[in-house]
Amino acid sequence: MRYIHCLNNISAKGTDLLTDAYELTDDLSRAEGILVRSAAMHDLELPKCLRAVARAGAGVNNIPLEHCSQKGVVVFNTPGANANAVKELVIGALMLGSRGIVEGIEWCRANADDPNIAKAVEKAKKQFAGREILGKKLGVIGLGAIGAQVANAAVDLGMDVYGYDPYVSLGAAWSMSSAVHHVTELDELLRTCDYFTIHVPAVEETIGMIDERACSLMKDGAVFLNFSRDTLVDNDAMAAALESGKVHAYITDFATPEVMRMKGAVVLPHLGASTEEAEENCAMMAVRQMMDYLERGAIVNS
Ligand code: MLT
Repeated sequence: MRYIHCLNNISAKGTDLLTDAYELTDDLSRAEGILVRSAAMHDLELPKCLRAVARAGAGVNNIPLEHCSQKGVVVFNTPGANANAVKELVIGALMLGSRGIVEGIEWCRANADDPNIAKAVEKAKKQFAGREILGKKLGVIGLGAIGAQVANAAVDLGMDVYGYDPYVSLGAAWSMSSAVHHVTELDELLRTCDYFTIHVPAVEETIGMIDERACSLMKDGAVFLNFSRDTLVDNDAMAAALESGKVHAYITDFATPEVMRMKGAVVLPHLGASTEEAEENCAMMAVRQMMDYLERGAIVNS
């Protein structure tokens, strides 16, 4: 019998795939495999018999990669399995950054008892007027599974899309619309576009990449979306850019205290991949990879 421990609630669509040769256990010390979503594993004592960790998601910054590799534990993730969910929310966030949606909703809640609501609505329509994304320039930083899908969807919405990724894979390149302009320098992208969305992993090279200098290169009134990782953006630089109007809207999926207190930021509690479909896709891919490895030593991480 092989024991598998779930550190998060992984969709049953995934764990149902486990054959009779496996048993889910609450006892971590017996686990040959760990299934995890976003739970931080850095302080966890890894069981002696552990052979594989499967992350039901793309980012692996919650996993102690070096420690795992020292112990010969293989780590899998599920690239692409939640890409559609993230793409759809990013497209929604483009609208949030362009139209007075958040302000309008807050205004309606606050004005429910206004006896002259029709007149007040006329005023609010002007106060919260927005802009359209049609024909605007979108810069996509990182053209992996998610970035490529966002780029294509934005092309379909009539945006003029620019992509930057020094490591773009052949697969992502083939899947991308020929209308996407590729730029080789991040600075050029930052100077050119009106909207930005970042889709890169949080690694040494990328942490803090959106800093004071990067913000200063953007056009006045830029809109910046972060559905990748909080550490990619320097919070002080972004707060100053919002304050000065350099950045018109910062929409982020990472509810850290700093960003939740940031004036003008629109913050979501990490909802990008939180759909039933994405959770099922990720769980199924993670479980299949885990079984392939434990049974046949196969490492499939496409
Ligand atoms: C990811 O990296 O794919 C997301 O963080 C997934 C999640 O929400 O768990």
